[in-house]
Amino acid sequence: MHVAERPTIGIFGAGKVGTALARLLVGAGYDVVMTGSPRQTALALLVSVVAPGARVATPEELVEQADVVILSVPFGKAATLPWPAFDGRIVVDAMNYWPPVDGHIREVDDDERSTSEIMAARNPAARVVKSLNHVGYHEMEDDSMDAGSPLRRAMAVVGDDAEARTVLAGIIDDLGFDPVDGGPIANGRALEPGHPAFGRELGAAELAALLTPSEDLAA
Ligand SMILES: NC(=O)c1ccc[n+]([C@@H]2O[C@H](COP(=O)([O-])OP(=O)(O)OC[C@H]3O[C@@H](n4cnc5c(N)ncnc54)[C@H](OP(=O)(O)O)[C@@H]3O)[C@@H](O)[C@H]2O)c1
Repeated sequence: MHVAERPTIGIFGAGKVGTALARLLVGAGYDVVMTGSPRQTALALLVSVVAPGARVATPEELVEQADVVILSVPFGKAATLPWPAFDGRIVVDAMNYWPPVDGHIREVDDDERSTSEIMAARNPAARVVKSLNHVGYHEMEDDSMDAGSPLRRAMAVVGDDAEARTVLAGIIDDLGFDPVDGGPIANGRALEPGHPAFGRELGAAELAALLTPSEDLAA
């Protein structure tokens, strides 16, 4: 699928992260379309107040219209997303497995793969990247800075599709962060809660170093 220079962004989840990203993306000039929980009422009113300029759509409309789909729903609700419809779409897994919210999920606890690999296996035809997950929602706007600012914070993207990583890198830059291409999706482990990059204020070089597997460093 050809991705436009300024892709349309679809966001699943109109909670803390989804609305913070929507505000930043609308501010950066993106066309943003959102969908919320099936049990969420007055979504159009909510979005018009907290993310003015973003559009509201059904899940089907969102997937039809978006070049890039951001998943910002609770990890434990991932199964409620329309994975089969994500064929060929760049899908950004911004979700964190967070037992205080999600409970302990036995299959995930027992799985050696990174959580994004587990998500990507839900639809191998989707171009899944992990990104936007390791910075707190409240910091996304506070820490957004112009390119070249000496204190600009970094955000990483990992995924097995190099073009998808490049598209995300452009979006991260537009969000106000220095993009770091972290390579394959398996490297995303370092971005997960409890791992070195999660929640830390890091510049691009520091973040890139944490995403380099130790065997690469030894090579
Ligand atoms: N909070 C942070 O600082 C932060 C930062 C980066 C990443 N994350 C990750 O991003 C995700 C969202 O976090 P959050 O803090 O924004 O959570 P949140 O405030 O609870 O928002 C998530 C929203 O997604 C909705 N939702 C559930 N299933 C959905 C579906 N199928 N389609 C559309 N919307 C759906 C939820 O509705 P219901 O309440 O009805 O389920 C809720 O309104 C989590 O995986 C989290 O780990 C969080």
